[in-house]
Amino acid sequence: MNIRPRFLVYAAILALGTLVATSGQAQPETARSSANVDLQKRLLQAKDDPKLAEKLLVSGAKVATFCANCHGAQGNSLNPTIPNLAAQHPTFLLLQLRKFADGTRRNEFMEGMIKALSADEKVGVALFYSSQTLPGKPSTNPTLAAKGKDIFNKNCFRCHGDNGLGDENYARIAGQQSEYLKLTLQRYKSGSGVRVDPLMAANTRLLSDSDLDAVVAHVSSLPSNAPK
Ligand code: HEC
Ligand code: HEC
Repeated sequence: MNIRPRFLVYAAILALGTLVATSGQAQPETARSSANVDLQKRLLQAKDDPKLAEKLLVSGAKVATFCANCHGAQGNSLNPTIPNLAAQHPTFLLLQLRKFADGTRRNEFMEGMIKALSADEKVGVALFYSSQTLPGKPSTNPTLAAKGKDIFNKNCFRCHGDNGLGDENYARIAGQQSEYLKLTLQRYKSGSGVRVDPLMAANTRLLSDSDLDAVVAHVSSLPSNAPK
């Protein structure tokens, strides 16, 4: 990682702290101790309560101006190693924020960043990104992508859906950044502990490095706005 993101993360955490402190009166009492708040339950509450959803969305959009330093405007990342957050399921975003917070998913920047957010800001930012769009980008290597499509259609579709769009329980992987996908799949496969998931470990175990390249070429070129 070069110096720029490292600088950015500390600057962003500081700025975020100021933002949270100055908008503190809008936060419920319990919001700062987000470890005790069930984020998924709060998300369901927001789904049933348009006024709450609107309030969380406003604070989420504010928080997202910091995240944009790395994840791009509206969660459309410009860096192939940093994931797009746009059009991702809010349940999945919250699950990953929880994993960074409790250390079951390792990333120095995200682990630090996440401590600065209240529970409602996490739910708000998840709602914000899930409502953004991600334009597709066609594959630069159609032959490799075609091989990847075969691999995808034998297995990955079972959880991530025919078009990689996922659902409440599984990530949208369509249109995800290519280098991020490759790195992520290698991590699940290697069992190094950076990213741990028994289902993904089992489903990458038998794939060679060139299989991973192929599946990445296919998945990254899938449009994120195709019909399910
Ligand atoms: C300094 C850069 C940086 C900033 C700022 C940043 N992130 Fe990240 N974020 C990353 C990187 C890098 C990853 C990928 C980590 C990995 O390798 O798995 C990531 C991953 C994530 C993921 C997991 C996505 C997935 O598809 O699994 C979520 C969710 C996320 N960030 C949310 C946020 C939010 C919300 C903010 C703002 C509060 C934010 N990030 C700010 C760098 C950053
Ligand atoms: C049995 C269900 C299942 C199958 C089959 C499956 N996955 Fe997954 N996948 C998951 C789960 C669960 C997660 C979330 C794991 C976590 O929290 O890190 C996930 C996460 C991912 C992610 C990380 C998304 C992100 O934005 O961080 C990628 C990429 C991915 N899967 C790709 C694939 C590919 C490619 C295949 C086929 C080779 C595949 N998956 C097959 C269940 C599955």
